[in-house]
Amino acid sequence: MKVFVIQGPTRLEGEVRISGAKNSTLKLMAAALMVPGEVVLERVPQITDVELMADVLRRLGATVQRENGRLVIDSSGELCEEAPYELVTKMRASIQVLGPLLARLGHARVAMPGGDAIGSRPIDIHLRGLERMGAKFTTEHGYVEGLCDRLQGVNTLLEFPSVGATENILMAAVLAEGRSVIENAAREPEIQDLCAFLNNAGARIGGVGTPTITVDGVDQLHSAEHSIDPDRIEAGTYAIAAVATQGDVTLVDCEPSHLELPLMKLEDAGAEVTRGEGRVRVRMDRRPTTLDLVTLPFPGFPTDLQPPMMVLLSQARGSSILTENVFESRFLFVDELNRMGAHIRVEGHHAVIRGVEQLSGAPVRSPDIRAGAALVVGGLCADGRTEVYDAGHIERGYEQFVDKLTGLGAEISLESA
Ligand code: UD1
Repeated sequence: MKVFVIQGPTRLEGEVRISGAKNSTLKLMAAALMVPGEVVLERVPQITDVELMADVLRRLGATVQRENGRLVIDSSGELCEEAPYELVTKMRASIQVLGPLLARLGHARVAMPGGDAIGSRPIDIHLRGLERMGAKFTTEHGYVEGLCDRLQGVNTLLEFPSVGATENILMAAVLAEGRSVIENAAREPEIQDLCAFLNNAGARIGGVGTPTITVDGVDQLHSAEHSIDPDRIEAGTYAIAAVATQGDVTLVDCEPSHLELPLMKLEDAGAEVTRGEGRVRVRMDRRPTTLDLVTLPFPGFPTDLQPPMMVLLSQARGSSILTENVFESRFLFVDELNRMGAHIRVEGHHAVIRGVEQLSGAPVRSPDIRAGAALVVGGLCADGRTEVYDAGHIERGYEQFVDKLTGLGAEISLESA
């Protein structure tokens, strides 16, 4: 098992270059299955989830080659329709191949992803949307199997602006017959990135970045190249870490407009934030002020930045309330943080955080990507040695985490336990 070992406290200082967005890359890779030709993705982060998605695509019949930060995907050969359990279980985002396979082959058999450490994660909204377009699903032996003739464009109202459901339905709609309208669609920047790529490959998607997406189906997509947007969650993690450690960090190659609410909240906490073209400087010279925070779909505060924000508020002067509205079990790591001296009480989907002056280093366990990164931020703030076990989770989503943090002055290493 891998473990991050951190010696704190540290004040983070310097510049950090932001990688391409994990959550865009995974969906763009799935979308490449709809292109009977070569897709070239630039600025692809070197993280485990990308390797896992590459394995899923290879299993489905595509070729995937990595050349430094580029990924070349060729789905022009014969594809197969089955994404097996041993791959889907390692990464939930594999479910995003469902829409592309149905659109391209009229047949998809994908293992049901099941829940994970942040909660039960059903796919009912995905399936309902695809059914309305003409797909018929059966679920047996842990697999969901869909069959269809050419999908038909329809109007769909999502009961919740699910990111994954919006993406699956919109990818299917791209090759459907006629016009589809997706209402109450998710507006996350990663969806905008996906739409930009698809339009570049010949799709006709309008209303991008709004809650109403319209898709005029086309018969076929063509080869395309696309450079992936910066990872707003990675950027937000470093920005929050800078404030939590009372440091001075400049995020380089990021997109400040994707981070507006997190940056506003950091300002509310007392940080000085300077926004520039593709860069943001975040400075803090005292303990944070308390604040209340609610996670919501974009442009609300992202649920993926809730865990590091919890670490920041655990050192505020006074009490804060953090409300989690997107994933039911996202407070599971609170017990780990309390082991580091935090005072956090969870009541349903609210966490009451009583700030302490100093966290103290301790061995803790990373339950998932974002909570794991947050525990590392906790370790940077804490006095003494922190060991974050199950570090493999963090490597799923953060490129060169140790190098980037070391570059900012952290004492951190990745070891085997
Ligand atoms: C994506 C992101 C994840 C982020 C989340 C919310 C990827 C790979 N992951 O996950 O990092 O935290 O968006 O911004 O991009 N739901 C249903 N039925 C469905 C689909 C979703 O009830 O069919 C519920 C989920 O259980 C959850 C909520 O809707 O409570 C949000 O899920 P969703 O927006 O779909 O997140 P993901 O696409 O899984």
